[in-house]
Amino acid sequence: MLPDIENRDSIVQLVNTFYEKVKKDELIGPIFEEKVKVNWEKHLPVMYDFWENIVFYTGSYSGNPMVVHKHLHERFPLDKSDFARWLKLFTQTVDDMFSGDRAEAIKQRAISIATVMQIKIIHPNS
Ligand code: HEM
Repeated sequence: MLPDIENRDSIVQLVNTFYEKVKKDELIGPIFEEKVKVNWEKHLPVMYDFWENIVFYTGSYSGNPMVVHKHLHERFPLDKSDFARWLKLFTQTVDDMFSGDRAEAIKQRAISIATVMQIKIIHPNS
């Protein structure tokens, strides 16, 4: 029986494990590692804050992911298959590590944010 997401430490474990999978992924790994060359020491704490805010309403994140990904898409076009892979890895990571109401909720939030993001950046005028 897996634990549910309980606190920020659960989020830290989840995010770290997720991006380890992302880095190794042949489709989207190179976007992070070769195109953008993400500074992980900076990016990971932003992601802890982002997801902690979503799950625990901490107010810890105040960025604008839609704008960030719109700019990203302008430099390095993203398509449906990139988002599908991102979501698959995220869902798999949650399912490998956690189970319970928060685990279900975080997956649903990822799906809805990714859906809105794709509509806004890939079909900005639809
Ligand atoms: C094809 C899918 C995606 C790709 C390739 C991608 C890639 C990236 C990259 C390269 C960054 C910038 C890292 C840096 O600071 O250098 C970023 C930031 C971020 N991403 Fe994504 N992303 C994807 C989908 C998503 C989704 C679906 C979510 C949310 C559910 C998300 C949430 C975020 C957040 C919160 C940030 C930080 C924005 C900020 O700086 O405030 N991403 N992403």
